[in-house]
Amino acid sequence: MEILFWNIRERRKKPGEALENLIVMSAKIGRNDPCWCHSGKKYKICHQAFDEKITKIRDAGHIVPDHDLIKTPEQIAGIKESAKINIAVLDYLEEHIHAGMSTEEIDRMVYERTTSMGGIPAPLHYQGFPKSVCTSVNDQVCHGIPSEDVILKEGDILNVDASTILNGYFSDSSRMFCIGKVSPAKEKLVKVAKECIAEGLKEVKPWGFLGDMGQAVHDYAYAHGYTVVREIGGHGVGLEFHEDPWVSYNSTRGTEMLMVPGMVFTIEPMINMGKVEIYIDEENNWTAYTEDGKPSAQWEVQVLVTEDGYEIISY
Ligand code: MF3
Ligand code: CO
Repeated sequence: MEILFWNIRERRKKPGEALENLIVMSAKIGRNDPCWCHSGKKYKICHQAFDEKITKIRDAGHIVPDHDLIKTPEQIAGIKESAKINIAVLDYLEEHIHAGMSTEEIDRMVYERTTSMGGIPAPLHYQGFPKSVCTSVNDQVCHGIPSEDVILKEGDILNVDASTILNGYFSDSSRMFCIGKVSPAKEKLVKVAKECIAEGLKEVKPWGFLGDMGQAVHDYAYAHGYTVVREIGGHGVGLEFHEDPWVSYNSTRGTEMLMVPGMVFTIEPMINMGKVEIYIDEENNWTAYTEDGKPSAQWEVQVLVTEDGYEIISY
């Protein structure tokens, strides 16, 4: 069955309509019809109770996922194959990133490693992005564009954000790299940014809300004196590079989209050492920088919501 796609902003504008849509949709499947999830089972013994539970939660005013955000076992297997490449690329970079090299060299390695394993770097030509990977140094918050002119030097902190397409399935994760010896302040920022992910992950479970995760990340960062970028967040990912939901880390417990088994999204908070404000490079229209010039750190994992918690798909 085809389900209408509602993005999160539309949902907020027209909750009534979205609710009606789900009811109409569920009403269309007979109890003995095959389930929408392609399990081959009858709806009544597969997802009927699940849909009824979701409808109640939506009735209570929450944002809930459409069926098309719930991945089938086959799709999950495909996304995991894609993630194997993404993980291998980042592992490779851990062995090869060093002071004195340019971020352009990192881009070349990502392109070469990804394609040699049969994948396509998802960033390449994505909405005009010119390179295969994002490399963001120091006060660059995200979407740094690899360049011959950016030479890594001792003391830099670097985020490399890699994304892969394999057989139409998308994976996405990023890691921080400390170049040589970095200052204790930067080292702590990088460590706390990673711990933010661990705090968020504790809240990833079915029938919880993305806001539970978002608040956990936010509170942990602020408890360490840091701020969490507001304008750029995580996203659903798997069949497309960027799917619903949009994932905020400035959200509060009990708000944002309901998490259900089969959803795949990223946790990728950008943690600023100083003020929260950012701006976008006017020349390339991509790279975000901290307004105050202080460093920013980001790790990203791609997670699957399972029956009893979560599974990390890419890191
Ligand atoms: N990997 C980034 C993310 O987490 C994607 C950036 S878009 C690109 O969403 F075009 F710059 F790659
Ligand atoms: Co992402």
